[in-house]
Amino acid sequence: MPPKRSDSSHRWLKAHHQDPFVKQAHQQGLRSRAHFKLEEIQLKTHLIQPGMRVLDLGAAPGAWSVFAAQCIGTQGALVACDLLEMKAIPHVSIIQGDFNDLSTQAAIIKALQGPIDVILSDIAPNTSGIQKADQLKAMQLSEAVLAFAVTHLKMGGDLCIKVFHGVGFDAYMKQCRSYFKQVKTFKPKASRSRSAECYIWAHHKTNSVPA
Ligand SMILES: C[S@@+](CC[C@H](N)C(=O)[O-])C[C@H]1O[C@@H](n2cnc3c(N)ncnc32)[C@H](O)[C@@H]1O
Repeated sequence: MPPKRSDSSHRWLKAHHQDPFVKQAHQQGLRSRAHFKLEEIQLKTHLIQPGMRVLDLGAAPGAWSVFAAQCIGTQGALVACDLLEMKAIPHVSIIQGDFNDLSTQAAIIKALQGPIDVILSDIAPNTSGIQKADQLKAMQLSEAVLAFAVTHLKMGGDLCIKVFHGVGFDAYMKQCRSYFKQVKTFKPKASRSRSAECYIWAHHKTNSVPA
């Protein structure tokens, strides 16, 4: 007999199936409801332009990569990275690996073959249910993405990253402001109100060393 689901996983599944963005994503054949978050951010910021070189971190199952690839067109480059396997997407190089590993980061740099215009990160680490530990893990990953952006994003480039409100959030915003001309937060409509997540759009990198 399969193991019985807990009450909380029953509640999560019920809410997931009733979610209008899940239904809409399914009807439109999108890979995940995350599509609507990037679509809304793109409408407001126009951060992804045709011909750009873009990196998508925490990319599986691939809704952001499919959308970003459409915005870029065939002249640019898109590299998608995730711990999990992803189904192929035309004109997208997929790297399966842990972003924390230097070997994964080296593979990303090699695949992009040039200066990066935009880094997208929707990375969400697996949670343990222990709020403090989960926040620390998420913040450490966000720091790793920012450090990578500071080194590898071209001057004038943009970072769009999911970050969780909690310990370290204000300091993270401050760090972003020291490297980018303009820093804004977004809570897209498709981001669940009970989730602590928001998206930081760090526009126009001005610094490669702390200000
Ligand atoms: C919310 S999902 C991303 C959804 C995706 N943006 C889309 O449009 O389909 C978060 C992803 O982060 C990935 N992830 C978590 N930790 C990671 C790490 N250390 N390195 C790479 N990917 C990671 C997870 O495997 C998961 O697929």
